[in-house]
Amino acid sequence: MQRTMVLITVSAIVLLGGCTNSMRPSMQSAADKRVEELLVRMTLEEKVGEMTQLTLEVVSRRKDDRHVEMNIEKLREAIVTYHVGSILNCGGSANTIDNWHEIITTIQNVATKETRLGIPVMYGIDSIHGANYIVDATLFPQNFAMAATGNVDLVRQASEITAMETRSAGIPWNFNPVLGLARNPLWPRFYETFGEDPYLTSTMATAYVEAQQGNDISDPTKVAACMKHYLGYSAPRTGKDRTPAHIPDRILREYFLKPFAAATEAGVATCMVNSSEINGLAVHASKYYLIDILRGELGFEGFVVSDWNDINNLWQREKVAATQREAVKMAVLAGIDMSMVPYDYSFTNHLIDLVKAGEVPMSRIDEAVRRILKVKFALGLFDNPYPRADAKASLATAEATSLNLQAALECITLLKNDANLLPLSSDKKVLVTGPTADLLSVMNGGWTITWQGDREDLYPAEKLTVLEAIRAKAGADNVRYVPGASFEQPSDLNAVLEAARQSDVAVVCLGEKPYCETPGNIDDLNLPDAQKQLVQTLVWANIPMVVVLLEGRPRLLGTIADQANAIVMGYLPGQEGGAAMADVLFGDVSPSGKLPFTYPKYTGDLTLYDRKNSENYQPQWPFGHGLSYTTFRYENLTLSESQIGMEDALTISVDVTNSGTRSGQEIVQLYLQDMVRSVTPPVRQLKRFTKVYLNPGEKQIVTFTLDVADLTFIGADSRPAVEPGLFKVYIGSQEAEFELK
Ligand code: BGC
Repeated sequence: MQRTMVLITVSAIVLLGGCTNSMRPSMQSAADKRVEELLVRMTLEEKVGEMTQLTLEVVSRRKDDRHVEMNIEKLREAIVTYHVGSILNCGGSANTIDNWHEIITTIQNVATKETRLGIPVMYGIDSIHGANYIVDATLFPQNFAMAATGNVDLVRQASEITAMETRSAGIPWNFNPVLGLARNPLWPRFYETFGEDPYLTSTMATAYVEAQQGNDISDPTKVAACMKHYLGYSAPRTGKDRTPAHIPDRILREYFLKPFAAATEAGVATCMVNSSEINGLAVHASKYYLIDILRGELGFEGFVVSDWNDINNLWQREKVAATQREAVKMAVLAGIDMSMVPYDYSFTNHLIDLVKAGEVPMSRIDEAVRRILKVKFALGLFDNPYPRADAKASLATAEATSLNLQAALECITLLKNDANLLPLSSDKKVLVTGPTADLLSVMNGGWTITWQGDREDLYPAEKLTVLEAIRAKAGADNVRYVPGASFEQPSDLNAVLEAARQSDVAVVCLGEKPYCETPGNIDDLNLPDAQKQLVQTLVWANIPMVVVLLEGRPRLLGTIADQANAIVMGYLPGQEGGAAMADVLFGDVSPSGKLPFTYPKYTGDLTLYDRKNSENYQPQWPFGHGLSYTTFRYENLTLSESQIGMEDALTISVDVTNSGTRSGQEIVQLYLQDMVRSVTPPVRQLKRFTKVYLNPGEKQIVTFTLDVADLTFIGADSRPAVEPGLFKVYIGSQEAEFELK
């Protein structure tokens, strides 16, 4: 059908969900007057110091694996001499909460009692999947696994606990959420995202930020969140960390900008910048990204912090500045408010010099410092910068641990289950094998206790590995364990064969060792051969096989996908992952996660789910895939109207029935297809989802509402547009059409 094209430009307000203002009212009113008074009194040196962030190593030394010792002379140099406004990181590994109290108290004593103006330091940390730099904190599934739960409330509650535990250490600022879209499966930070889809990510971003910050970030259970890494960091062309992305402006707005717009709308207090470049523009030096779009279009009002060493990188790596001094000038003029330097005073000294030489206007310095101080006031640091002694009790409570277990249970995704091999009955003789069977680190990944997350010796001994949890469930006598392979090397395959002969079923735990950022770069998305050989050995043993995947990105399975009878995706399920995995394998809980990304099948085909009509989508498993031990029937998809106008809302309902014999949860997903439009339409796009719990035979009518904002796309001119015509709605097995007039 030929239709008339009417291109309507809707304002950015509609596209971005009504975004106007990034700061909560409480942050504005409390701060403004006192900030201005303070600014008047501050010297240039004090102001530039506010814009400087150093890493904890500069002012401390590591005493042992769980404690840092402050170096008071170095600390005084930083805070009294250089007026440093912010310190970050953990000094190498997680510290005890008592040690954190000592660290923060020492820092704030110097800042508030030994300086002229007594400005408190704003400490920042990466609490990426829980407060991972506090010993014994609650460590949740990583973000991509939280997205797999399809349970926004869980994300909200986990974020609340993360905020509470982080603040309980006296740390008021969290460098999370990561809001890049996982659209390149090679990228080593894939697991830090909420997956490949902008709507799913935006929804989780909003929940995460609201829960981190609450209505008032001075609340002793809340922190300032930091959306990162703005913008386009997650889609490097080659998949290597911190390398160039090539993203046309239209695509940037259609996909990558949306989660940042959602977080801004949710009032996120701070923003961290993409270390690399988009279309040849180093983002740390780009006024276009940092001012025109972030401030001008999104309306972000918080402050912008650089990423690690990235102002230096403009000079040392990106080669857009000839000298360090020029790099500082570029970045500050482009809109960086705070530099994560992180080791020295080069930024501070250069910036003072640049202002004195008239190359950076004082108004720009005032603007940056004003933004930083506003957040410090909003955090209540001027009233009380110290950790609260009673806050220690809020670390890893029984409720937090139980929520963590629920999150791990709900993320686990059943990818394949031939002949209902799963769930296993507990009288079976089980062979457990594979490199991820008996380690905690492989369930947590990077950002766990250490940056790389690979210090297995520092993990809490009471948490269960998959092997330990299976032993606890099935009885140690019923379980044999042969490692079978390290990540890269086969081992004891004869012992595997021998053990298989004496077992009824094999649980083969595969995946990746922990990693983070650049050290996690790979040249090949395939799962290493050693792991394939282990599976091949079990095929020879002719034993039914369940493959458990613990990995930070979808490593290609090759022949394993066919050879395994059942495949369970565990992602990086966190500290309760072992217990949760055993509960799912033995059927105490029916799996209910769904893939928040496409699981690819071929190295040469990394097509994503929201593909175009010309693209062939042949993944191993599609975005949104996930089986259950029960079955769900979808019926009676009903639209309130068959035609709607630009101002109208459309109500969509569908009956979902648990048609199986066990209770279970189902993520109900609504996809939309714009049948014809001026910019080639994707075949489907996720627009709504919700999770329902149903007993056998139980039915629920699930209702969603869409309006014109959901039908909007970015037009050829890079502006939001919506065009009349036919749209198709898909939910489960059902589909229906409506027309936009
Ligand atoms: C990472 C950031 C992190 C920062 C501070 C950088 O290397 O890219 O995500 O917040 O380090 O730890």
